[in-house]
Amino acid sequence: MDLAALATTLLLCAFIPGIDGLHLSPQNVTDLLLPSYDYIIVGGGVAGLVVANRLSKDPNVTVLVLESGQLDCYPDTVTVPGLVGHGWDATQDWNFTTAPQEFLDNAARRYAQGHGVGGGSIINGLVMTRGAKADYDAWEALGNPGWAWRDMLPYFIKSENFTANVDSDVASALHIHPDMSVHGTSGPLQVAYPNFIYNTSNSFLEGLSELGVPLLDDPNAGVSAGAFLSPSSMSAWNQSRSSSRTAYLDSVLNRPNMHLASGQTVTRILIESGEGSGGIAVPPFGHIRRIQGVEFTSSSSSPRRKVTCDREVVLAAGAILSPVLLQISGIGPTAVLDGLNVSVHIDLPGVGQNFQDHAMLTAFYNYTTPGLFSSANLTGATLEEARNEYFNNRTGPWTAPLVSTVAFPSLESLTANWSSILDSVSATPPKKYLPSGPGQHPTVVQGYERQRQLILRFLGRTDVGALEIMADSVGTLTVGIHHPFSRGTVRAISADLLSGGSVARNVLLNPRYCAQPEDCEVLLAGLLFNGRILNTCPMRPLAAQPPPPWNATSGQFGNTEAESILLGAIRRGLTTEFHPAGTTSMLPFDLGGVVSPELRVYGTANLRVVDAGIIPLLPAAHVQAAVYAIAEKAADIIKQENSHQHWGDE
Ligand SMILES: Cc1cc2nc3c(=O)[nH]c(=O)nc-3n(C[C@H](O)[C@H](O)[C@H](O)COP(=O)(O)OP(=O)(O)OC[C@H]3O[C@@H](n4cnc5c(N)ncnc54)[C@H](O)[C@@H]3O)c2cc1C
Ligand SMILES: *[C@@H]1O[C@H](CO)[C@@H](O)[C@H](O)[C@H]1NC(C)=O
Ligand SMILES: *[C@@H]1O[C@H](CO)[C@@H](O)[C@H](O)[C@H]1NC(C)=O
Ligand SMILES: *[C@@H]1O[C@H](CO)[C@@H](O)[C@H](O)[C@H]1NC(C)=O
Ligand SMILES: *[C@@H]1O[C@H](CO)[C@@H](O)[C@H](O)[C@H]1NC(C)=O
Ligand SMILES: *[C@@H]1O[C@H](CO)[C@@H](O)[C@H](O)[C@H]1NC(C)=O
Ligand SMILES: *[C@@H]1O[C@H](CO)[C@@H](O)[C@H](O)[C@H]1NC(C)=O
Ligand SMILES: *[C@@H]1O[C@H](CO)[C@@H](O)[C@H](O)[C@H]1NC(C)=O
Ligand SMILES: *[C@@H]1O[C@H](CO)[C@@H](O)[C@H](O)[C@H]1NC(C)=O
Ligand SMILES: *[C@@H]1O[C@H](CO)[C@@H](O)[C@H](O)[C@H]1NC(C)=O
Ligand SMILES: *[C@@H]1O[C@H](CO)[C@@H](O)[C@H](O)[C@H]1NC(C)=O
Ligand SMILES: *[C@@H]1O[C@H](CO)[C@@H](O)[C@H](O)[C@H]1NC(C)=O
Ligand SMILES: *[C@@H]1O[C@H](CO)[C@@H](O)[C@H](O)[C@H]1NC(C)=O
Repeated sequence: MDLAALATTLLLCAFIPGIDGLHLSPQNVTDLLLPSYDYIIVGGGVAGLVVANRLSKDPNVTVLVLESGQLDCYPDTVTVPGLVGHGWDATQDWNFTTAPQEFLDNAARRYAQGHGVGGGSIINGLVMTRGAKADYDAWEALGNPGWAWRDMLPYFIKSENFTANVDSDVASALHIHPDMSVHGTSGPLQVAYPNFIYNTSNSFLEGLSELGVPLLDDPNAGVSAGAFLSPSSMSAWNQSRSSSRTAYLDSVLNRPNMHLASGQTVTRILIESGEGSGGIAVPPFGHIRRIQGVEFTSSSSSPRRKVTCDREVVLAAGAILSPVLLQISGIGPTAVLDGLNVSVHIDLPGVGQNFQDHAMLTAFYNYTTPGLFSSANLTGATLEEARNEYFNNRTGPWTAPLVSTVAFPSLESLTANWSSILDSVSATPPKKYLPSGPGQHPTVVQGYERQRQLILRFLGRTDVGALEIMADSVGTLTVGIHHPFSRGTVRAISADLLSGGSVARNVLLNPRYCAQPEDCEVLLAGLLFNGRILNTCPMRPLAAQPPPPWNATSGQFGNTEAESILLGAIRRGLTTEFHPAGTTSMLPFDLGGVVSPELRVYGTANLRVVDAGIIPLLPAAHVQAAVYAIAEKAADIIKQENSHQHWGDE
């Protein structure tokens, strides 16, 4: 790598105004792009920017990040926690659409995913939860040594700067008692509490406590079944969003050895024809392929460029587009690749399979007690006041994200019927509810069966959540299925990602929500449980007045009419909680795996996947904390595996 030439480039950059000195826009990429980099990272989202930051710390290696979306200029819709959930710039969302959901109402769902430097972390809800110790110990039990809770904890810690910025009276009222031994205070991602907390938070927590759901001192210390005020990915100091962009990129954009090219969509991974060495061979090919680099372009009508990697390509395009890129590059299930007319380089049945997501449903209970202050009161003069207070003082309601009070009840604490639900799943042959067609490869079925046994065990435990309940200040309680049995698929529809000018149209994603019907039963138990929450002493003063169909919740448990009304509401309203995972699973090859515990794609010498797609089994939690930790760990693995080599002087 010619670092001298790169340094000249960088000297020039210093004189160009703006923070983005090493930012290559489509206008200047032609002049500035090097012909090759040591590492090429595909996707500048949560995981991609973590890996870019850690690898480029070594001034002797060169790193290129190719991100399809733009580097934004910190619009309020991104930075202000109080504006979370009020919509984002359409260019920051891939705007996928799912296949019609045949186990629900046959309608398709919109499926938002982050599109821009920072990925999901520029549009997400800021909730910072890790899930349970058991969730990660399951990853190890599935055949991934080095990925248990004890192995992940150092990386949760490394990634964060956790601040318990709450006064002691607030802390005791809301039960915020963090265990600092499981938190980091010198990591890049700012994690803290908002300066303003709506009064309904307290009512919700006390209501759950009355129903026997434990209030957790610290939800991120290994036990996640319970209720709590969640920390958020935001700065304690200035109360603004902390994203992978602000945390991992802004401070290192002056590194001479890193380039970030925005507005560049990777269209193919380029595979050398000869044999490589160093990976894990997969049958029936039996030899290892080397990755040459990637092909990318700034638009469907612009020329496609190529850039070469001297060491590795790291695929960090997220759980939807990483498997799609693999497939259109010739790595995936043969039947899928044949359908695309793509020649098979590596027959890897798991690519795009094992798609799992948390599915959620927002139920409306409309609190009507006079004088109650909620985010719905932020209109007119009150809104102006909140805005001024935020910008002048960094306090007030605009510091509060849409949702910060949540609960992850265990199945047993939700419903007396819990064991019948589990028996009913156990009685189902595992193949029955898996997608038919190319996904029914025996290795994928085998991997699913192993997961199913673990989920059955989780749902019988009292320290692992089955469901999430998210409370806002206005009167919604959103329920989400957190240990789903259902599995879906992601696949490319065209071998050209930009065909017709729209990436979303070339991707078929099918979460198959409630393919295993008990997932919807668990959600129904959650809606009935909501009715009990509203009836607790702490919640009753809020005077919930649920409009139909949510008023059916006031019916008795076992009231079949109410249950059928609520099941109808579930079928119509169930949609994504934005947590796609599993599509490039870290699992043994014979369990349908795509990457090894080193995150290397089977059958390749120098291609890894580092994003939410490698998660083999979703934790009962929002997933950004896991993705930051996965990427931190991946960076260490990559550095360690490359440390014996001598580079930089060729
Ligand atoms: C609306 C929403 C709300 C959420 N709320 C929360 C929350 O409150 N708490 C939480 O923990 N999690 C939340 N999440 C989930 C969390 O943000 C994701 O789990 C996380 O972003 C996943 O990280 P990733 O690195 O796998 O992918 P991403 O962050 O999605 O990054 C992938 C990046 O790759 C880019 N890319 C894709 N394809 C290409 C290509 N071909 N060429 C170039 N670039 C490409 C994308 O544009 C994107 O920037 C939310 C997500 C969404 C969408
Ligand atoms: C490339 O252009 C972008 C904006 O178009 C600018 O922000 C950036 O500084 C330029 N980079 C260099 C290295 O000149
Ligand atoms: C970078 O490479 C040079 C020459 O190979 C070597 O002398 C130097 O120690 C390396 N620096 C680091 C930080 O690895
Ligand atoms: C998102 O996709 C839907 C469905 O394809 C479409 O109707 C809508 O216009 C799209 N929105 C944007 C902002 O592109
Ligand atoms: C961590 O957060 C505290 C409180 O906002 C701040 O004072 C400190 O500088 C931060 N440290 C890092 C490493 O970001
Ligand atoms: C807030 O502080 C963080 C560092 O904690 C910084 O990255 C970010 O740019 C600041 N945001 C604003 C809006 O000041
Ligand atoms: C498949 O590819 C071959 C050769 O690349 C081409 O001749 C043929 O037309 C393609 N078929 C389809 C359906 O795209
Ligand atoms: C209930 O609240 C929602 C917003 O939270 C609102 O859209 C709806 O109109 C309200 N319904 C009634 C009957 O007030
Ligand atoms: C907030 O709005 C509701 C509904 O309009 C109203 O009943 C309530 O009194 C308002 N709260 C405050 C503090 O003004
Ligand atoms: C919350 O409730 C307390 C008393 O219960 C009251 O003093 C305070 O004004 C309320 N705050 C808001 C923002 O409604
Ligand atoms: C500004 O913030 C401080 C605490 O940081 C608070 O005590 C004060 O009331 C706030 N001032 C205004 C005008 O909101
Ligand atoms: C209990 O669960 C089983 C299995 O899902 C279901 O068939 C049955 O209707 C449930 N019973 C009640 C009372 O909800
Ligand atoms: C729910 O509200 C509708 C319309 O007001 C009413 O017809 C229905 O009886 C209510 N259901 C229950 C269970 O209260």
